[in-house]
Amino acid sequence: MQLSDPANVTQESLGRPPGPCAMVIFGAAGDLTKRMLIPALYNLAKGRMLPDQFAIIGVSIENFSTDQFRERTTKEIHEFATGGVDAKSWDWFSKRIYYVSGDFQDGNTYKKLKDCLDKAEKDQSTQGNCLFYLATSPQFFPIVVQNLGAAGLTKQENGKWRRVVIEKPFGHDLPSAIELNHSIGQVLEEKQVYRIDHYLGKETVQNILAFRFANGIFEPVWNRRYVDHVQVTVAEELGVELRGGYYETAGALRDMVPNHIFQLITLSAMEPPTSFDADAVHDEQTKVLRAIQPYSPERVLDQAVRGQYGEGMIDGKHVIAYRNEPHVAQDSQTPTYVAMALHIDSWRWAGVPFYLRTGKRLSKRSTQIVVRFRRPPLVLFRNTSVDKLTPNELVISIQPDEGISLNFEAKIPGPSVRLGAVNMDFQYSDYFGSTPSTGYETLIYDCMMGDPTLFQPAEMVEAAWTVVQPVLDVWKALPPRDFPNYAAGSWGPAQADELLHREGREWRDPTAGNSLHRIVRPQPQPATASS
Ligand code: BG6
Repeated sequence: MQLSDPANVTQESLGRPPGPCAMVIFGAAGDLTKRMLIPALYNLAKGRMLPDQFAIIGVSIENFSTDQFRERTTKEIHEFATGGVDAKSWDWFSKRIYYVSGDFQDGNTYKKLKDCLDKAEKDQSTQGNCLFYLATSPQFFPIVVQNLGAAGLTKQENGKWRRVVIEKPFGHDLPSAIELNHSIGQVLEEKQVYRIDHYLGKETVQNILAFRFANGIFEPVWNRRYVDHVQVTVAEELGVELRGGYYETAGALRDMVPNHIFQLITLSAMEPPTSFDADAVHDEQTKVLRAIQPYSPERVLDQAVRGQYGEGMIDGKHVIAYRNEPHVAQDSQTPTYVAMALHIDSWRWAGVPFYLRTGKRLSKRSTQIVVRFRRPPLVLFRNTSVDKLTPNELVISIQPDEGISLNFEAKIPGPSVRLGAVNMDFQYSDYFGSTPSTGYETLIYDCMMGDPTLFQPAEMVEAAWTVVQPVLDVWKALPPRDFPNYAAGSWGPAQADELLHREGREWRDPTAGNSLHRIVRPQPQPATASS
């Protein structure tokens, strides 16, 4: 991760290309590979951010030859590339593609892989450095790692490096995450393991650190003295699509909270690290997770809300209920929505609630962090009461809008003193243009460079599961009785609104966007002779 010069953060200017290496993708015939990994690698290639001495080796059960896999990939890139496909750079890239067909559980597959790596090393001079990317279903994570170890493929000797990227979900609860860490720890050193969370590949997420720590004016007010509460919303318009099989075993809490949402919360709430070294950043993020007040069963009932979507309308179209989605049980009790109140027991945040909510089939896709500041202690203006003033709000819009806005009170022009809320607004595209990317480019690049800052260490993953485990336990013990409890196209179940109303607060409407939409523009009053 490079935070040096925000004006230069573009695909092409990540820095120098990494040294020679090969990237092996397990699950090469799967969705993630064609939609994200190959387009991301291709973007890196186009931006000259891959080394000349490079090879990609796909591994999958499907029976392709290298030529067939190259053909297939060539077809897919035209469908999934984030920009145009330029013949010259694709030619450079596709010549470096190889394929190994085999079962992940069969030792023979790894012998074939070893031969292929030797060949790639000869053809492309990859110098024995290798990144193994596990784009497989999670049950294969420990199996692939054990087999790589048994085949001697994870050994780092004579200056060559071997790293393993593990996709989410990393475990499905605390015990399974501990077990997975233990199992891969028998083969790999912690420094060889790159646990990915694609939210950390988003520029807007990385910018939280730049915003907080590269500016002097926000940090002094970033604490309990000035902040009333923080809201994190990750709203999706999409339903579960064809992923019902996986989603039934996961649900909204596991799928989004201990990973993506906790990244947003820890980056927003952490103390300044002593440097931007991976260890320093991870330590501070982990401290936030450890400071989250443990949920007692009573608090789960009171401060965690679950929901499941019924049928409804989105963008004028009728959409079906979760229970009618493919591969979903007719009486499914899987939550597709969760809202929670968290309390961080730290000197900085004591007494400041962090509210989070995420759900599928909500009214609009929107990911935002809202920092709501306290009201001023006194109101000195005539005809205005403190209650009528809009509290200052800093909105960090992560997606699809990308920007930061700060609202404050201003005097409405006219003879009498009246106040209205206005916005200062920053949009990324206004300053930096937009570089189409998959979000995986920086992550793959960082991994090749050996920079683990945007990846999660074992202890952080376990700290995150520790926070949500009591909620999983109580929800398992007490199945929901009211599902489906929100209509597709709404903002979720009514209990989520009550969670905030009880404390005299309300969710910010994400459709308000980043600019003045939310605020009714006050009409200036005509000046009179007496004014
Ligand atoms: C994935 C979840 O990790 O993140 C999906 O498994 C979810 O269910 C997705 O839709 C959201 O990612 P993004 O980048 O679209 O916000």
